[in-house]
Amino acid sequence: ALPPAYQVPLPLPRVLAPVAASGGVDRYEITQRETVAEILPGLRTPLWTYGGTFPGPTIEARRGRPVTVTHRNELPVPTVVHLHGGRTPAESDGYPTDLVLPTGWSPGEGHGPGGTGGMDGMGGMGGMDGGEGMADPRAVTTTLTRDYTFPNDQRPAMLWYHDHRMDFTAPAIWRGLAGLYFVRDDAEEALGLPSGPRELPLMIADRAFAADGSLIYPSLDPTLRERPGVTEPYTAGVLADVILVNGAPWPVHEVDTARHRLRLLNGSNARHYELELVCDDGRRLDLVQIGADQGLLTTAVTHRTLPIAPAERYDVVVDFTDVPVGTLVRVRNRLGSGRTRDVLAFRVARRATSDDSRVPAVLSTDLPGWNREDAVRVRDFAFRAGRMNGGHGWLIGGRAFSPSRTDVTVGLDDVEVWRFVADVHHPVHLHLVGFRVLSRGGGKPPLPHDAGLKDTVSLRPGESVEVITRFDGYRGRYLFHCHNAEHEDMGMMANLEVV
Ligand code: C2O
Ligand code: CU
Repeated sequence: ALPPAYQVPLPLPRVLAPVAASGGVDRYEITQRETVAEILPGLRTPLWTYGGTFPGPTIEARRGRPVTVTHRNELPVPTVVHLHGGRTPAESDGYPTDLVLPTGWSPGEGHGPGGTGGMDGMGGMGGMDGGEGMADPRAVTTTLTRDYTFPNDQRPAMLWYHDHRMDFTAPAIWRGLAGLYFVRDDAEEALGLPSGPRELPLMIADRAFAADGSLIYPSLDPTLRERPGVTEPYTAGVLADVILVNGAPWPVHEVDTARHRLRLLNGSNARHYELELVCDDGRRLDLVQIGADQGLLTTAVTHRTLPIAPAERYDVVVDFTDVPVGTLVRVRNRLGSGRTRDVLAFRVARRATSDDSRVPAVLSTDLPGWNREDAVRVRDFAFRAGRMNGGHGWLIGGRAFSPSRTDVTVGLDDVEVWRFVADVHHPVHLHLVGFRVLSRGGGKPPLPHDAGLKDTVSLRPGESVEVITRFDGYRGRYLFHCHNAEHEDMGMMANLEVV
């Protein structure tokens, strides 16, 4: 039996302490390991975790101060760590075949994307042995531990880190491999936005549970070693009936009558939400958006409801000042039905003794404002269903992902316009860069929630969306892909080479 909504207290992920903080670098260590957690009251749920918890520990970084995270893998399969939204040198970006091997994983196994490689020649979509041309020797690199270095030379924002192994990202995230990562700076802290206990990270993710508490996921190969993919009814993406926030089902959080800053992440594999805040008496509270995936907007945008696609982040301020003590304010999902309409709730528990927070009229002045005329190139990409390896696949420009092919080459510092078209919903994510949404629906202006600098944009069914960006930062091999994690595993990913 599932717990009633708004009974379990909202957990806040612990902040990871650095193991060293010398030489201008913060060093962290994370061991990826299995654990068992009580998610549904009274039941035990086996998980794959970063450091023993789901979500994993939060990393707090300062702009311009590098962070190195040493990941050690004690899980039964290889893993890959990607910092989503990070402006990261390619060797630390978590390319899907840059594996962190588990200790004891024999060299004969697991080289190829798709798991087993060698012996039985299984391979997912082009395994290393016998698969179609792994011409590029960089395609697979393996280590027992891996140091990921993040320069944090980017706008303050809430990022997240998650697994990115070729063919098996979706089930690995599902089992718990996801955590939050903040970049902060003095300028943002000087704005006077709600902070401390009034700033709440919220990772929203749906999961399905068996009667014994274990997670249900329709993998073709539940060991996640050999055969990638999900059973036929789930190829459009895996949706589940329990909504977790920070790993707890439909939690409740006590607030005082003050402004609160909500750092929202849709960490679901495939579920879209449209959030609204509804009080007991039916009154609705505004969501005042102050930031997007890649940091603060120029000025706030007020929403009555806020759509959030997989991997998107929204930074919003909610004002509980005039809400009577005792009120339950539900965060509801207008796209849900039955229990997936509920997400979490805030109980206004007491009057605030003071609230000197504010939402300044100008939040930031450094948003890049690229114009169409700045672009040296316009490219088109169709995100559509297709056939792959004799089965169902998801394709970009008619092709399924291959690590041995460069799909797009861009010049460092070039400004380009990318035009995406979709068949069904596809949240499209670019590694390395943030972008601006230029238009939707064939030249119509962006939607209000497209404001700011983004790294993931939600393509709605049948829609075309134009984005503009400058490919600055680093040269090397990066990715862009659909962040419906099942689509991503089923081919909807492509290589982006910055030269
Ligand atoms: Cu959130 Cu390529 O990843
Ligand atoms: Cu998709």
